[in-house]
Amino acid sequence: NVYTDYFFDEPAFNTHDGGYVALETPTTPQQPLAIPPLAVPDTETSHEVSYTITAQEGEAQLLPGEKTKTWGYNADILGRTIILNDGQDVHITLKNNLPELTTFHWHGLNVSGPIIDGGCHAPVYPGKANKIDFTLHQEAATTWLHPHPCPSTAEQVWHGLAAAVIVKDKHEASLHLPRNYGVDDIPVVLQDRRFHDHNQFDYRADYDPDGVQGPTALINGTVNPYFDVTSQRLRLRLLDGANRREWRLHFSDDLKFTQIAGDGGLLPDAVDLTHLMLTCAERAEVVVDFSGYHAGDEVVLYSDDTPIVHFRIHDFNADPEPLPTHLLDIKPPVVDPATPIRKVVMSGMDESVMLDGKKFNMQRIDAEQPVGQAQYWDVTNTNDMTGGMVHPFHIHGTQFLIISRNGHASYPNEHGYKDTVGVNPGETVRILVRFDLPGVYMYHCHIIEHEDGGMMAQIESYEAGKPRPKYKLMDMETL
Ligand code: C2O
Ligand code: CU
Ligand code: CU
Repeated sequence: NVYTDYFFDEPAFNTHDGGYVALETPTTPQQPLAIPPLAVPDTETSHEVSYTITAQEGEAQLLPGEKTKTWGYNADILGRTIILNDGQDVHITLKNNLPELTTFHWHGLNVSGPIIDGGCHAPVYPGKANKIDFTLHQEAATTWLHPHPCPSTAEQVWHGLAAAVIVKDKHEASLHLPRNYGVDDIPVVLQDRRFHDHNQFDYRADYDPDGVQGPTALINGTVNPYFDVTSQRLRLRLLDGANRREWRLHFSDDLKFTQIAGDGGLLPDAVDLTHLMLTCAERAEVVVDFSGYHAGDEVVLYSDDTPIVHFRIHDFNADPEPLPTHLLDIKPPVVDPATPIRKVVMSGMDESVMLDGKKFNMQRIDAEQPVGQAQYWDVTNTNDMTGGMVHPFHIHGTQFLIISRNGHASYPNEHGYKDTVGVNPGETVRILVRFDLPGVYMYHCHIIEHEDGGMMAQIESYEAGKPRPKYKLMDMETL
């Protein structure tokens, strides 16, 4: 069975919002797709790893002519890819060499909030460093690192801060899947920018409270990229790292591809698709099989009608072994029928966006849930189809399961663990949420300007029967 649609309702696409900026086909020459180098651990043993991650200013040759002033993690733009292993003790030094406060948020990692998680309560001041330590218990997944200071997350991401964080585990390593980093397994960070005078970004000039966009696709920080394909199969770890843009992805020839993983790890079963839509912060790992092509051919990845990556096919060795079809056994946690269903409402547009009828307040804990208890959350987007948007709903510190959409089955490619889900206008998505660790966690729309604009709340997960820790919550003044 090959699925050939985006599943999302066409009228809900962000193209229908008045401020939508369409992607344009680049006129600059094609350049090799940048593959972020792997971050080099300070120390590493089989059960322990330490890294130093530095947020820094830089400049990058994005267009011919003048370089663009950018920010990155151990890099001029974006960041080196960080590899973590399930079961490892992880020590990370977080250094801020930027001219302003930032935080280091581990989007999708199973770590405690609010400090290690790196949301708005974990500032690292300019010129300073913090240290975090945790033991990672998590299935193989593509997660990511981005800044999260309130309310300037969006602008910092726009400067270039975002890095892939790949979690590995034994089970994934046992499957016949491409995993040679940079060769047949590559991160693909999907972003868009507008270039102003002297090839510079200008966030303020482009500001839109419904999300900042630009007409130029920037893929792993590359304008108009090509990638040299030297293997029959290529695994793309797609990450929507845009502030607001949805990506509607498809290949030339309507080439079929196979989705093997979502945000939180492997899907239970591989899903064959020709079209895939990602909303902000969502990830999809897909495997593309080029066996029908020959050296000299080109396969193009599009978003809508705009080419965003050119895959140049070279000679490769045939891989006759099929991909696994069953990937992961998922046992959903059992919900006690006495547990009430939590209602979460995303409403408004522009400056009037709210979560549960309120604007975010750093000092206010909006909800609580016992550690280990599974609860249904009904997440509603009250926008209507005409002026509304798909709001990508994200929760820190957990991977959830999608149970239903307006009472109907969830999409076939969202049966694995997720931390972000696109909620259509007028839709209620039921998710099954469980926290592994006590802490304070943010949940919000991941259109980053909506998050900065207050479409965000926070929940405390607590250990029932134990005294509650006192969390130090920042406020705008103490920042
Ligand atoms: Cu991707 Cu609150 O974060
Ligand atoms: Cu997050
Ligand atoms: Cu939103």
